[in-house]
Amino acid sequence: MPGSANLNIMIKAARTAARGLVKDFREVENLQVSSKGAGDFVSRADIAAERTLRDILLSERPNYGWLGEETEEVAGTDPTRRWIVDPLDGTTNYLHGLPHWAISIALEHKGEIVAAVVFDAAKDEMFFAEKGGGAFLNNARLRVSDRHRLIEAIFATGLPFGGRPELPAVMQDLGRLLPATAGVRRMGAAALDLAYVAAGRYDGYWERGIHPWDVAAGLLLVREAGGLVEPIGEAGDIFSSRALVAANSQIFDTFAKVIRNA
Ligand code: IPD
Repeated sequence: MPGSANLNIMIKAARTAARGLVKDFREVENLQVSSKGAGDFVSRADIAAERTLRDILLSERPNYGWLGEETEEVAGTDPTRRWIVDPLDGTTNYLHGLPHWAISIALEHKGEIVAAVVFDAAKDEMFFAEKGGGAFLNNARLRVSDRHRLIEAIFATGLPFGGRPELPAVMQDLGRLLPATAGVRRMGAAALDLAYVAAGRYDGYWERGIHPWDVAAGLLLVREAGGLVEPIGEAGDIFSSRALVAANSQIFDTFAKVIRNA
């Protein structure tokens, strides 16, 4: 399906950065890692991938801003547009040799995500979407699932690690959700969790303590596949509150009520 010039640049950047990540993944034991806080590791591959993405995206669109996980934020001369990038979502999986990680690239315009790419290079799955244009996986149109009973549905989340403060709230979420559903998965890459909701593989996803680069692209995938994404709390938006709930539109209210304990 033909996309906009921006989408094509994003796909090209993802494929280019993925080549280095795939090569380094094969040699994961030899990677030097540096610790960025308990349980949260940054590899050389991660930083190199961000550099590649940044070089391509900012040379193609020098006036856009930049928000990436690994490098300094840049304000563009066009204050309405910025790239929001996680060069390696699922870093812990990557470092442990688990083939479940992705490159996530979003384009924000006037505070809204308008284009998204999530590339799972290990499985050669390219998820992409543009606002108003639908969501796709390798050129096949995506639709969220239509399960509407919690007891038949499975949900993904991220579990707080390394002493993160969200643990008590997430334990309560699990206590309410697990008895009422077909299960909860913790696969370790938020961008892919959202892409899988868009693809109907999961019925919903929630997480507390996320960063914009983890979810910016994935939330557009879900919306363009017919699902809903909202902040968990009433105060603030998804990026400022750092907590979101996403699901197919049939199950969203019931699921969100459980997560919001409403
Ligand atoms: C992490 C992953 C994980 C999620 C964490 C994120 P990273 O991103 O998406 O699934 O639970 O909240 O920080 O560190 O691998 O880019």
